[in-house]
This record gives sequence, C-alpha cells and structure tokens, in this order.
Amino acid sequence: MEPTMTDEHRPTITDVLGKDHRDLDALWDRVEATPATDRPNRQRIFAAFRSGLLAHIAEEEEQLFPRFDKTDPTLRTLVDRLLAEHREIREVLDRIDRALRTGDGAIEELGFELVNALGEHNAREESFAYPWLDGRLSPEQVREVQRRLGPRDRF
Ligand SMILES: [Fe+2]
Ligand SMILES: [Fe+2]
Repeated sequence: MEPTMTDEHRPTITDVLGKDHRDLDALWDRVEATPATDRPNRQRIFAAFRSGLLAHIAEEEEQLFPRFDKTDPTLRTLVDRLLAEHREIREVLDRIDRALRTGDGAIEELGFELVNALGEHNAREESFAYPWLDGRLSPEQVREVQRRLGPRDRF
C-alpha cells in the first residue's frame, strides 16, 4: 500500500514494537562487539539491553496480550506460545547476566541461544500478533505504548 500523509501520523504497533525489536538487536550487537576484556562496558551495555528488553516484554504482557480474544483458540495458542517464549528469553537473559558477572566463557553459546530465541519470537509477533493488534487499537492507544516504551537509545 502507498504511504499517505495520514499514515505518517498514524503509528502502528507493528512499526513501534518492530523498531524496538531492531533497536534492541542493535544494542545486543554492541554487547557482542565489546571485547570480553572490557568487562565494565560489556556489563553496562548488557544492563541497558536487558532492562530495555524486559520493559518491552512487560509492555506486551501487561498491556497488549490481554487484548487478545481468549475465546479464539488460534489466538489463545499464539499468546500461550509467545508467553512461553518470553519465559525462555528471560531465563537466557539471567544466564547471560550471571556469565558476564563471573567472566564465564559460555557467553558466546548463550548469545547464540538468545539471538535464535529472539529471532523466531520477534518474527512471530511481527507477522501475527502485532498486525492483529493494529486492526483493533486506536492511534492514541498506539501512541501510549510508544510513550511508555520511550526512546531506546537513551544511554
Ligand atoms: Fe515478545
Ligand atoms: Fe516484541
């Protein structure tokens, strides 16, 4: 569809949260690009990445997923799956946090696990969950999500 002037002022969940996925991916890339010898910086960037991703997940779980129609079995299956993936992502984040604190070499393997889990999860949200929400949320509701998340490059 051709973008119009109106579209420009009409943010979508797909755009806002899709961009947040990408901004968070870029932050993770910075963690990986920081040499293991520079542990303070690695931990600092990881802390920003982790709190950003946890805020993103909390927004989805507290504000967005409850909007899905639980009587629709397809949507219920989708939400259950996304929630299970969130649990998995949180767990990997905790393991990476521990590995970074202790200088554990498993960080590379854990990073691979994280990137895999996030890739599939984000694609599922962007292809199914966000478009469904965009069909139901008003532009003002989308702007509220945008405001609560705030800018990602804030450190
Ligand atoms: Fe998610
Ligand atoms: Fe997401």
